[in-house]
Amino acid sequence: MKFFIDTADVNEIREAAALGLVDGVTTNPSLVARTGRKFADVIAEICSVIDGPISAEVVSTDFDGMVAEAKQLSKIHENIVVKIPLIAEGLKAVAWCADHGIATNVTLCFSPLQALLAAKAGADYISPFVGRLDDIAHDGMEVVSQIVEIYENYNFDTEVLVASIRHPGHILEAARMGADVCTVPYSVLMQLIRHPLTDAGLAKFLADWKKVPQ
Ligand code: E4P
Repeated sequence: MKFFIDTADVNEIREAAALGLVDGVTTNPSLVARTGRKFADVIAEICSVIDGPISAEVVSTDFDGMVAEAKQLSKIHENIVVKIPLIAEGLKAVAWCADHGIATNVTLCFSPLQALLAAKAGADYISPFVGRLDDIAHDGMEVVSQIVEIYENYNFDTEVLVASIRHPGHILEAARMGADVCTVPYSVLMQLIRHPLTDAGLAKFLADWKKVPQ
């Protein structure tokens, strides 16, 4: 399973990359807004740090606007994946991008049938938002399981990119289901590393080492 990092904070991206854990990056307008920096600057810098798919989101909601943004974004770097919302105009834009060699990540997916449509339109990635589903008492990971099943049934190439991850349990379930990618906030990535038994075990080894004649 691939790990993308879900942030527009270049310092976090550098830290995670140093761990050898980052296969790509996802951003969204909210994450970019948090940086207080210009969108194009942030995306270009991320592309210079990570050699992998970098999702950058359109903000138009009509086909022409999305296509114009997709063309602009794809000029920033060859690794750009244009993130497009799962609305009717968005699906049209995804189909256009597929025909014109521009990679897409269809975002704001909340149902397996939406995911089926995105795959049929030619999306490279589908992003089911599991945390936001859990927030409203729906089972986000059940949606991922159904998407994986449907994509396997019909051999779609679209990769299942589990998004809106809130905790390590989401990642464990995603890996067991065979999802292609998890996009993980930096804080959750750090949670994955830590285990109290690792800390206790290391403390004991180091304490015992002091008793070894040097
Ligand atoms: C995915 O691409 C989105 O950027 C992200 O995972 C949304 O997560 P949130 O629900 O925590 O905002």
